[in-house]
Amino acid sequence: MLGDRDGSMAQLLITGGAGFLGSHTCLVLLEAGHQLLVLDDFSNSSAISLERVAELAGVPLQRDQPTLKATPEAFTLVEGDIRDTQCLDALFASAKAFGQPIDAVIHFAGLKAVGESVQQPLRYWDVNVVGTQRLLTAMNFHHCRTIVFSSSATLYGYPHPNQIPIPETAPIQPINPYGASKHAAEALLADLAGCSGKPEPIQASSGGWRIARLRYFNPVGAHPSGRIGEDPNGIPNNLFPFITQVAVGRRPELTVFGDDWPTPDGTGVRDYIHVMDLAEGHREALHSLLNSDPQLLTLNLGSGQGASVLGVVKAMEATSQRAIPHRIAPRRPGDAAITVANPTLAAQQLHWRTQRSLTDICRDGWAWQQDNPNGYGEACL
Ligand code: NAD
Ligand code: UFG
Repeated sequence: MLGDRDGSMAQLLITGGAGFLGSHTCLVLLEAGHQLLVLDDFSNSSAISLERVAELAGVPLQRDQPTLKATPEAFTLVEGDIRDTQCLDALFASAKAFGQPIDAVIHFAGLKAVGESVQQPLRYWDVNVVGTQRLLTAMNFHHCRTIVFSSSATLYGYPHPNQIPIPETAPIQPINPYGASKHAAEALLADLAGCSGKPEPIQASSGGWRIARLRYFNPVGAHPSGRIGEDPNGIPNNLFPFITQVAVGRRPELTVFGDDWPTPDGTGVRDYIHVMDLAEGHREALHSLLNSDPQLLTLNLGSGQGASVLGVVKAMEATSQRAIPHRIAPRRPGDAAITVANPTLAAQQLHWRTQRSLTDICRDGWAWQQDNPNGYGEACL
């Protein structure tokens, strides 16, 4: 147990909570009865996502400053940067001064575009590594030692065909600065837990730290209401938002990067996980940490099922009842043929597994795209 709290109603800090994964997770955590403080600098999001989360959860969104002026209510938004140590200290100290110390952090804030990370490695290390280190320093100082960290299947690099589906013990071999920054943040968390260099995915930790490093596979889709979803800036790098934008007529055609991969139909295979399944995985990881002895957990969040590029195209065509024009192009540099999770450990440890299919993903992603053809860009609340 954590202090005198059993996690049934915790005060949580959600960094990057206005983003794609953070906004859906905020909704699930509010529905579970937790109080949330969101810290976001809006470098890749806007407050509209959180206004919509508040509407779906039936709670008001309170806006405040890092030095909180009012008692935090169910859902409070603070604009700030995770690299700003004064901001972090003010937030932890003022929550405590209002009698509501932060029990745990869910740390989504970060930069995530692989190509951009190759162009701007210093920026990626600054936000993803220095930002995480400053957050952990503030947590340590304020005796908040429970964190769920957004890691990535990108750490597995080009997985060996013998290791599909990929277990957490597969070799870690990042192949770009984004992956390297997630690897560094994972290593820092292991050092804090006193588990440096130990590969076991479940370990007792020291110093009171409760840590979950969650390695996401390919999170896609949207909340079934169509009110919140993924809103990429500019031309999407990722397959799923690109396909929905073609289906809705915002882009003329999809480029399929290679049909000569060693896969059943020659196109790349990925493990697509519905964003609501992912959000529920965070709830379960948090509850598991809050109710156990200090430990370091490293878990894949995936479905264990692979879908090819052409398989996703067909599924979206069936859902949208629209043709999705596509043409085959050469392979994209840096891509792996297949990445599919072995999700057994998360099932054992969290009693969690994905509930939603590729059909559900397409239905909900399509509803979001149709209702918000320009994302949150031209949205009326
Ligand atoms: P996102 O860009 O939608 O959300 C990230 C949020 O963090 C945004 O709201 C952004 O404004 C905020 N942010 C960025 N830098 C910040 C800073 N310095 N201070 C405060 N806030 C900051 O991305 P997402 O898809 O929701 O991803 C969330 C996390 O999950 C990221 O750490 C990402 O690396 C990781 N992840 C994402 C995927 C994916 O496919 N979406 C896969 C694996 C891992
Ligand atoms: N693809 C296309 N056309 C496109 C975009 C993608 O054919 O326009 C293909 C890719 O070649 C790949 C598959 O669709 O075979 C999936 O590609 P995504 O870009 O959607 O996803 P990735 O698996 O390459 O990478 C994503 C994130 C990473 C993250 C990883 C694991 O971009 O940051 O999932 O979570 F690390």
